[in-house]
Amino acid sequence: MLLLRVRRVRWRKKIFKILLLTVVSLLSYIILILLIKSIFQGPPSLNLDYDNNSVNIFDNILESHPNFPIDHSKGGSAKYSATCARYATPFDIKHNNVYWQVQRLSQETYYLYGAYYDSRPKVGPAVRILGVREKAGLNYSTEIYCQLWFSYGQNPIIVKVDYIQYLFRDEWGSHDEEQKPYLLSCMVPPDYQGSVPDSVSLVESPCENATNNLRVINNRAKGEKEDFFVCVKCLNFKDTPEIAVRLVEWIELLKILGANKIVFYALQINPDISKVLKHYKETWNIEVVQTSLPGTLPNVPDFMYAYLSQRVEQQCFQELIDYNDCFYQNFNLYNYAVLIDIDEVIVPGGSLRTWKEMLKKVPIPKGQKPSDVQTFSARNVFFMDDKERFPDWNDDIPRYMHMLQHVHRMAYYSHISIRAKSFHSTRYALALHNHFGRTCITPEGKRWDWCEGSVIPVELGYLHHYCVKRSKEECTFGRGPNSTVDNNIWKYKDELTSATKHVLTSVGIL
Ligand SMILES: *[C@@H]1O[C@H](CO)[C@@H](O)[C@H](O)[C@H]1NC(C)=O
Ligand SMILES: *[C@@H]1O[C@H](CO)[C@@H](O)[C@H](O)[C@H]1NC(C)=O
Ligand SMILES: *[C@@H]1O[C@H](CO)[C@@H](O)[C@H](O)[C@H]1NC(C)=O
Ligand SMILES: *[C@@H]1O[C@H](CO)[C@@H](O)[C@H](O)[C@H]1NC(C)=O
Repeated sequence: MLLLRVRRVRWRKKIFKILLLTVVSLLSYIILILLIKSIFQGPPSLNLDYDNNSVNIFDNILESHPNFPIDHSKGGSAKYSATCARYATPFDIKHNNVYWQVQRLSQETYYLYGAYYDSRPKVGPAVRILGVREKAGLNYSTEIYCQLWFSYGQNPIIVKVDYIQYLFRDEWGSHDEEQKPYLLSCMVPPDYQGSVPDSVSLVESPCENATNNLRVINNRAKGEKEDFFVCVKCLNFKDTPEIAVRLVEWIELLKILGANKIVFYALQINPDISKVLKHYKETWNIEVVQTSLPGTLPNVPDFMYAYLSQRVEQQCFQELIDYNDCFYQNFNLYNYAVLIDIDEVIVPGGSLRTWKEMLKKVPIPKGQKPSDVQTFSARNVFFMDDKERFPDWNDDIPRYMHMLQHVHRMAYYSHISIRAKSFHSTRYALALHNHFGRTCITPEGKRWDWCEGSVIPVELGYLHHYCVKRSKEECTFGRGPNSTVDNNIWKYKDELTSATKHVLTSVGIL
């Protein structure tokens, strides 16, 4: 009895010791981390940390506003005691609709979204600036300048804008729109080509005090480039919670196909979609970029959907900002950009399972290597959304697996010039458009106002485009001689169903 009690006391002492040790080591660990942080994150000279609780204020700002010139602020802007042109601090910048910076010129106004470093030979090294140009006068300013701010030197390096690229095409109309998307390029002069500018301001006269200052984004791969990144433009879903379930099936299919990353641009999304995206942010490689419309365009949540549905030109223009930002944030990290919507997926034909296997088989012009191809384009085919009229559900497959359940499609493919979607080589693309490249680099290293590519033969794969009810004209016909059953996607059935079910369960939607 006594022995037992003594043992118990000893045990208690032991447990107490272990607990004490754990607490002490945890505390010293925390103190060490805090110490290291205080040494390496000295107080910023710009005094942005008004709220003492937000230790990571800089990181927070940069995460949501990659164009904010905040690295400078960390080191202090005092070093730029420029005699020509003032360095615009975040306090000098004219901000607009959360994500844009404004520069007024005599003839027009620019709403600037991002700046990127492009060191590809011959067309670079260049700084590319993405933004929306708003017409004011009759003509546009013909001379515009970039002030390139390097981490050394007190004055900016000033160069004339080399090229102003309209991202849409004049022959497609929309001439009268006030705001249009552009990509402006400034070449880095030979003497400075060893280093990357920290930030850039766009101005009308060289020494002007700018009201914009964009951090120059230069994301680099740590090792080899990976294969595919996918860009999704303008998520604009305030209601429609059922999209969340379809989104999981879609992301899981893209993972099987070999996508390495998906970037979503979001104008507005509902809580179920947020839940799904949060899950993938934590467990896989997705990025969600919150965006807004620039200038006087409306960002009123419930109105935005109606507005963009009616003003299709503005929707198209915003898409081009999303796509080209997505491209320049990721072109150094992956070999191909894939621009698709969440009701579309490029599915390899026959027994081919992945995009990589599919692209390897695409015939290419004689004398070219696959890596020389600027774009690989897939033809479009509509899959019907007609279970209300034909409730022929497949009992082997859960009903929420939208793509697996919808296997009736048009018997023919859309013409290659309509609705096709492409794999854009990050070696050659200079600017992107939804379907094909907008501007590419030729093999000789010249800028070309078009992109050339190979069409993926339909035996090797094509774009599944899932109708939403009968929304598009091509979605209106029923079943008959012009429709066919296409269950090629069932080759992924087991893997796709179990992955989707797993995620839906873990986010609490199932
Ligand atoms: C933040 O901390 C500094 C120094 O500890 C103090 O002087 C300042 O008043 C604090 N600011 C706020 C908003 O709490
Ligand atoms: C530019 O800014 C500097 C520093 O604030 C100021 O001294 C100068 O007058 C400004 N120049 C113009 C043209 O406004
Ligand atoms: C616009 O440009 C044309 C031709 O370059 C010129 O004749 C005209 O005066 C300009 N208009 C304005 C308002 O600057
Ligand atoms: C099938 O397609 C052909 C060619 O596009 C068209 O002329 C015909 O009207 C279609 N038939 C039906 C039943 O939709």
